Amino acid sequence: MAKRNAIILAAGKGTRMRSKLYKVLHQVCGKTMVDHVLTQLENAKIENIITVVGFGAKTVEEQLGHRTHYVLQKQQLGTGDAVMQAKDLLANEDGETIVVSGDTPLFTAETFEKLFQYHEQRHAAATILTSIAPDPTGYGRIVRNEVGIVERIVEQKDANVKEQAIHEINTGVYCFDNKKLFAALSKINNDNAQGEYYLTDVIGILKNAGEIVTAYKMADFDESMGVNDRIALARANKLMQARINRHWMQEGVSMIDPETTYIDADVQLGKDTVLEGNVVIKGHTVIGNDCYISAGSRIIDSTIHDAVKITSSTLEDAEMHNGSDIGPNSHLRPAAEIGENVHIGNFCEVKKAYIGANTKVGHLTYIGNATLGKNINVGCGVVFVNYDGTNKHHTNVGDHAFIGSNSNLVAPVNIAQDAFIAAGSTITDSVEQYDMAIARARQVNKKDYAKKLPW
Ligand code: UD1
Ligand code: CA
Repeated sequence: MAKRNAIILAAGKGTRMRSKLYKVLHQVCGKTMVDHVLTQLENAKIENIITVVGFGAKTVEEQLGHRTHYVLQKQQLGTGDAVMQAKDLLANEDGETIVVSGDTPLFTAETFEKLFQYHEQRHAAATILTSIAPDPTGYGRIVRNEVGIVERIVEQKDANVKEQAIHEINTGVYCFDNKKLFAALSKINNDNAQGEYYLTDVIGILKNAGEIVTAYKMADFDESMGVNDRIALARANKLMQARINRHWMQEGVSMIDPETTYIDADVQLGKDTVLEGNVVIKGHTVIGNDCYISAGSRIIDSTIHDAVKITSSTLEDAEMHNGSDIGPNSHLRPAAEIGENVHIGNFCEVKKAYIGANTKVGHLTYIGNATLGKNINVGCGVVFVNYDGTNKHHTNVGDHAFIGSNSNLVAPVNIAQDAFIAAGSTITDSVEQYDMAIARARQVNKKDYAKKLPW
């Protein structure tokens, strides 16, 4: 097998996106478009990957790191000029080079593999990956002769009426004999409607030089779609969403309404987990087996172990251990860690806090900067008062403590294990084991006084 190289074209600004963000950095299911392309090239086991950067070069390099080499295209003079920037790194290499645009996020490693095989079997100098577009507007068209042999690619803006009627499009992915690619590139010019150096012109040049040029027509146009504007971006998201959901259903996840279930590309889900509709799971979230996630839940960069139940709640950078549950309408913020079989009920917020096994936090509670032991009962409306206006302070609550409803625990403060806080207390001093703390004004009942009031 010949050595396989790849070039990702990612230097364009993406004017049609009308965005301050460079086009290839727009996300599809939580991952930048260029990262999708790179991931699939990696999956296709390509050894040498070069990314052409220009606009937003620094940001692209930061995002992709050492997974690829980089070359800089200082001025965006066209896709042919972009590939030319890889000349110093590649022109003398033997083997094959696949060129892919950074704005075609749906291509799979399998398709790249098929393209290589098609190319190798035909001993071609160039193989274009093509597809049949229901609406080919905007794409380069594949011009074939009377017997169906590929002659050249013509860009939308350079195409005559007859050529514009062609539905077979250039997906922007090609496989080249590496040395022949760079030899042909030195012959392109910018004499066209856009005044750009087109990579597509290489096809006609190789053809005229008597080289074998073929086209591998892939079956699924959707996979080949290019994203040039926000409308296409939304469609790419939809298609990727359907692909991701299909994958997880095949892996044993149940989805009540996959159409409205949004799972980012890098999320992991366990078997027999059930997702209702209108669930959003983002970032690097990992969810275990046998979980139930109800409608209205939004889970970002969190780790959820097995048999966890999440009802209409929001989780960010949080962790929930086996058998715990939350919601409806609660919020776990960064560094909230919920122990095994913990119950977090409705309208609770937890931030930077560890809650030990079997503890119950039923209703209307804020827990921030705290460590709670096991088997604690936190009553309704408890506030961990963690902020003095300048600094955050920590609260510790020992195992089997009881925190009465509507209490304030003013940090820093320690509540020992087995301590009991009476309802309505504002606790500013630490409480020892088995002590009961009560910190509220005593009740006075004034006989018949209600009669004097205007009620
Ligand atoms: C290109 C193809 C077209 C094909 C379509 C498929 C050419 C001339 N046209 O058109 O035949 O149907 O892709 O999606 O190649 N880029 C650079 N430097 C540049 C210009 C572009 O790196 O100087 C990058 C862009 O960032 C982008 C990719 O190349 O990732 C394609 O450029 P774009 O302007 O989107 O080309 P299309 O008009 O879509
Ligand atoms: Ca494009």
